[in-house]
Amino acid sequence: MRSLFQRKQISDPAEGSPAGGLKRVMGTSDLVLLSIGAVIGAGIFSTLGTAAAGEVLPTGEVVRYGAGPALVLSFLLLGAVCALAALCYAELASMIPQAGSAYAYSYATLGELIAWIIGWDLILEYAVGNVAVAIAWSGYFNSLLSPFVQLPGWLTHGYYNVHASSDPALRALLDTAPRLAGIPVLLNLPAFFIVMIITGLLVVGVKESTRVNNAMVVVKLLVLALFVGVGAAHIRPENYTPFAPNGFTGIHQAAAIVFFAYIGFDAISTAAEETKDPQRTMPRGILLGLGICTLIYVIVGAVATGLIPYQQLQAADPLARAFDVAGLTQFSWIIALGAVVSMSAVLLVFQYGQPRIFYAMARDGLLPPWAARIHPRFRTPHVTTMITGVLVALGALVADDAATYDLTNIGTLSAFMMVCLGVPVLRLKDPHRPRPFRVPFVWPVSIGGALACLFVMKGLPVHAWERFGIWLAIGLVIYFAYGYRHSVLRRGAAPVDLGGPHG
Ligand code: ALA
Repeated sequence: MRSLFQRKQISDPAEGSPAGGLKRVMGTSDLVLLSIGAVIGAGIFSTLGTAAAGEVLPTGEVVRYGAGPALVLSFLLLGAVCALAALCYAELASMIPQAGSAYAYSYATLGELIAWIIGWDLILEYAVGNVAVAIAWSGYFNSLLSPFVQLPGWLTHGYYNVHASSDPALRALLDTAPRLAGIPVLLNLPAFFIVMIITGLLVVGVKESTRVNNAMVVVKLLVLALFVGVGAAHIRPENYTPFAPNGFTGIHQAAAIVFFAYIGFDAISTAAEETKDPQRTMPRGILLGLGICTLIYVIVGAVATGLIPYQQLQAADPLARAFDVAGLTQFSWIIALGAVVSMSAVLLVFQYGQPRIFYAMARDGLLPPWAARIHPRFRTPHVTTMITGVLVALGALVADDAATYDLTNIGTLSAFMMVCLGVPVLRLKDPHRPRPFRVPFVWPVSIGGALACLFVMKGLPVHAWERFGIWLAIGLVIYFAYGYRHSVLRRGAAPVDLGGPHG
């Protein structure tokens, strides 16, 4: 039993890296740009619609209540929750700077079994999250093409998406789509192909450089500025009443889905080792990045819900839809273009991250050694990159976006919760280890952060908890069937040096 919670030793951050560690070059503004690049994507361009309008199944069952114009309060609530979690991430990232993110932190703090569960949850954040981003990408891609060519609905919507939709036009596809063995063929081909293209790029070693990231950030900000600038002039104040049609329940349940818009800020905490004066720069960068994203989300949310009645935002491309409905069709095309560019960047970052987490888990013996193989020429973890790519692409081909967002959010929130709990545990168990960054007011921040994550999770529908339970059960079976017996730590063997992923 005790060996299940055996903790991995933390190696010196500088160990193995040349000249005493990575170069400390990043300042506050670099961190802010990094966070905007990783964070702004499908969440604001797509989940905003469901968060505002809610979701009702064709059977009439209410899956979640929408916040209506009070969506802005959901964004503020999430900004605060994420700030607590982000500070905890920064402390662990600065003392345990290893590939594998929250997985590596929890291995050192809470032991092997919890680390496995977190690694398993991170698949929900990265791979399943990208299924959702790819579906949102496809929604905007279709808007982009629509003035020139109208792809048939059965080639742009996945089966489960159509099945869960209460939109009569979409549901009609169940009858009109061609059939194979009696089953309607409903495939989201654009979502499938974008994932495969990005996977191909990653296998040969393309990765986002700072310069590309900065260009993407500019595109995102320009497009959202256009949305706000043009949209604000067409707001109809009557759309703001009722402000909170479903009271706090609506605000809470909207927060639980639109949390997706905040995922990715954890990525910047991994830059702790490359940050100048991390003790000051890190919290500033994190909080400023989160603050700016929150502010952008509040303004975009206020404009979107002021532009058209919130019920009409329920669409795969709610910002373009808002402009269409408001009669601003000449701009909706530019919005769609900006959304496609922004979400391509998010897809690239997450599709890049997932194989590195598999790599870290395989290096520890919790996954088979082939998952840590590095391509001899491209120096990328090509096997896991391709496996991730194929699975994500197949998911995007048929999945329902709302269910996918929920699963991503519940997995990510539970990983965040563990990271929050890991901070005080490590303070107690290893109080003297150098911490380049320390969480201020550690007890209220870490315990408050864990409880806040749990609170947001509670806003997710029952289906999400059920699916999450099944996901965890599958994970535990795999752990006891494989990882438990092959763990490098448990066998007391030295980790095999497989070479690092240089992607
Ligand atoms: N936060 C990222 C997005 O909204 C995952 O696409």
